[in-house]
Amino acid sequence: MLRRLHADQPESFAFTAANLAWAKGQITKYPEGRQASAVIPLLWRAQEQEGWVSQPAIEYVANLLGMAEIRVLEVASFYFMFQLKPVGAIAHVQICGTTSCMICGAEDLIGVCQEVIAQNAHEISPDGNFSWEEVECLGACANAPMAQIGKDYYEDLTTDGFREILAAFARGEVPKPGPQNGRFSCEPLGGVTTLKDFTGEEFNGSVGIAVALGDTVKRIQGDEVPVLKRSKSKTKPKKSQSAKGKAKPSDADKPALLSGPRDAGADDLKKIDGVGPKLEKELNAAGVFHFDQIASWNKSEVAWADQNLVSFKGRVSRDSWVDQAKKLAKG
Ligand code: FES
Repeated sequence: MLRRLHADQPESFAFTAANLAWAKGQITKYPEGRQASAVIPLLWRAQEQEGWVSQPAIEYVANLLGMAEIRVLEVASFYFMFQLKPVGAIAHVQICGTTSCMICGAEDLIGVCQEVIAQNAHEISPDGNFSWEEVECLGACANAPMAQIGKDYYEDLTTDGFREILAAFARGEVPKPGPQNGRFSCEPLGGVTTLKDFTGEEFNGSVGIAVALGDTVKRIQGDEVPVLKRSKSKTKPKKSQSAKGKAKPSDADKPALLSGPRDAGADDLKKIDGVGPKLEKELNAAGVFHFDQIASWNKSEVAWADQNLVSFKGRVSRDSWVDQAKKLAKG
């Protein structure tokens, strides 16, 4: 597709003071002489501020980075994420039209865009508030059909639900992003079958932040304060054994170790579930050769072994080595 600068360009572009400070911070991430590496984040922030990337914005970014303007134009025109035409004042809607979404109703969503926003992609609605386009797969295929509105994803859409979302934006509201059919994420429609304690916004960073900030379609000025309001989980995740506030094991907890196997030879420690050849070597190197050694460890010794004995921390308790070793020691 031919991507050109828009025929009508604004007189000028400048970052807000806060966005300029942010941009200068981005530039310092790169070594001297490599400032051009910041071109994509700076163009993106220009788009976040204005809604689209104008010619003055391209020139402004080129000037900030000491780049030829044509080089910045090349970047802006290559990546489809940069809008080279003005977009709706409230939101630009991107409908995924790739396979999963197409099969699940993307064309109907495009029909809604044509009816509610404008007949053609990249055309601004008569009230100036919305524009739309069809895009390639946005990587949320398990939640098809879906649309990106502003910076967030709205998934598992129906035509009626999508209409209502657009109406809510028009009223100045910010509908909750994510699946719109009651799903938490992309779990089966019948509900989660695993990790049941982890279904809530506080466990989904993207949705949690999006809901807390409500900045889905906000033009970014750079002085927004990203304060997260996290709701309290009804079901808290279980703390791991090591996170329960127990004192760290000290050297006094170190179990008795041997300088070599007894005369009858070392036991085959690989018979313990979770111990492979690598761990067996590590155990032998540390002075553990026999099932009865492991079987005799008390809680403090297990905690010490979890932290110090092998490279995979926590293995000893997680795989219940002591219980396994007791059985194996009995033969
Ligand atoms: S096909 Fe639509 S998100 Fe992948």
